[in-house]
Amino acid sequence: MIMLTGNPYEKFAEVYDSIMPDKFYEDYYKFIIEILKKLELKPASILELACGTGKLAKIFLDEDYNIEGLDLSQSMLSIAKKKGLKVYQGNMVNFKLNKNTTWYFAFSIR
Ligand SMILES: C[S@@+](CC[C@H](N)C(=O)[O-])C[C@H]1O[C@@H](n2cnc3c(N)ncnc32)[C@H](O)[C@@H]1O
Repeated sequence: MIMLTGNPYEKFAEVYDSIMPDKFYEDYYKFIIEILKKLELKPASILELACGTGKLAKIFLDEDYNIEGLDLSQSMLSIAKKKGLKVYQGNMVNFKLNKNTTWYFAFSIR
């Protein structure tokens, strides 16, 4: 038996992308784009909270959105970084905003 202590995603990161289906993220991407269309928004910059390995943020990046991610888990973020994403380590409940950073839209899934 494997005992998980602390943030379980530190241990989970290595296998996370292989068990999460691409379609799941493609559907979320379409859903969020639909919301942006309804709001008539094309945000200049976006923040994904609890972005994990950045599977969803990477779709936005590939579609030329300026997106960054924030997550608690350094292991999850190290995988997101390998995808070319700019990410921050922090707790979405109380992270401090950098004065030089502005995000016009933020979301989090699950
Ligand atoms: C189920 S994973 C989802 C990751 C990503 N949103 C996705 O759908 O692939 C949950 C993520 O939330 C992060 N997380 C949990 N609590 C958090 C918090 N308070 N602040 C920032 N990240 C958090 C974990 O580190 C983990 O990467």
